[in-house]
Amino acid sequence: MDHFDHHDGRLWCEQVPLDELAAEVGTPAFVYSASTMRDHVSRLREAFEGLDPLICYAVKANSNLAVLRLLRKAGCGFDIVSGGELKRIQRIGADASRVVFSGVGKSVREMTAGLQAGVLMFNVESEAELEILAEVAAHVGQTAGVAIRVNPDVDPKTHRYITTGKKENKFGVDLERGEALARRAIELPGIELRGIQCHIGSQITDVAPYGVAIERTAALARRLQPDAPDLAWLNMGGGYGIYYRDADAPDLADYATAVRPALEGLGLRLIMEPGRVIVGNAGVMLTKVVLGKTSGAKRFVIVDAGMNDLIRPSLYEGYHRIWPVRGDAPPALGTEADAAPVDIVGPVCESGDFLAVDRPLPAVERGDVLGVMSVGAYAFTMSSNYNDRPRAPEVLVDGDQYAVVRERESHDDLVRLERPDAKLRSLGASAGEQESHT
Ligand code: LLP
Repeated sequence: MDHFDHHDGRLWCEQVPLDELAAEVGTPAFVYSASTMRDHVSRLREAFEGLDPLICYAVKANSNLAVLRLLRKAGCGFDIVSGGELKRIQRIGADASRVVFSGVGKSVREMTAGLQAGVLMFNVESEAELEILAEVAAHVGQTAGVAIRVNPDVDPKTHRYITTGKKENKFGVDLERGEALARRAIELPGIELRGIQCHIGSQITDVAPYGVAIERTAALARRLQPDAPDLAWLNMGGGYGIYYRDADAPDLADYATAVRPALEGLGLRLIMEPGRVIVGNAGVMLTKVVLGKTSGAKRFVIVDAGMNDLIRPSLYEGYHRIWPVRGDAPPALGTEADAAPVDIVGPVCESGDFLAVDRPLPAVERGDVLGVMSVGAYAFTMSSNYNDRPRAPEVLVDGDQYAVVRERESHDDLVRLERPDAKLRSLGASAGEQESHT
């Protein structure tokens, strides 16, 4: 469900016509629908009714401050993976007691910041991390709430780059080590075992692996419960799939049905860390046709957005629907008989710079604006300045109005930190000056 609709000869985001918006804000540009994001949060709540989940939105999917503020108002907590994401949610006044801190390589600086902020818990992914966190907690003089992230060894049947719950992945600890680690957490001073967590991957469209993963995770929690007085949460991670094609995602209620039996009678509250399912289908990227070109049998449409703006097609073989914002609505997938297949590519100097390959598209001309759908998640947050391209603006639409919630970068923004005239100096001459992540 989303609030993008093609009618009256153009594509609309809520009540804003996107051809006019493109003329006003320029291209490329990301446009998000506020109503779609709010709806997705409500739908998640409805689907998991009775389980009363704490929805910790995964900030990495889309970390724009306006989006975070909107989701805080919609009642979300947050799942963060860095000190930078912590600073973002602090800026929008998030309640730290509804925040989980994930990540396989948290630095001492990040642990300290999380503790000082008072996050609900750290998702701990290794023995070494737990020991370091205990030391940091002692140093800061605070108790660290933790969840042990277990790796339940299930195959979520998604792209290999976004599979996390198999034994060979770097995430979490296997179930046997997980139990030992949890018992260590119960004993360690300065540490409070508050939860067990798992996250098996992203864009998962088969609900069955969730059932198995949660069953294994819940069984571990049951074994621990008699010895773990503070164990109150089971965190099932995120990963719910969305529709990139027509209807390739299950109903949210199906995910809930898959995990309900394992949670029955467990007496733990549910946390989830959804990112994509809340924001993914709430975004479109507007891009303008620069020119068309033919090479051998291939037809190319070159547009002004490239892999630096949207890397998902190049990196994960990601599919995003693309259609002109002006003209007829796109036909149902697979019935675009009149539309000749073209490669829709960007201006970046890489053969891997494409948004779509062999894609049916009606005839387009220089200056026409195309809408690249389902780019609310992992699009802007993964964008870069490669080829010295300023990052695109982000626009939030609500009803019949819009706001530019991140401006287009300028050339000055791109060179702001460069020091071409910096003087060479000897090692040690500036000891203590440098900041690092650790
Ligand atoms: N929790 C943890 C521990 C995660 O690692 C992730 C995503 C999430 C929650 C949120 O997952 P979601 O509900 O959004 O699927 N860049 C890739 C996706 C990477 C996902 C990384 N972890 C893409 O564009 O497909």
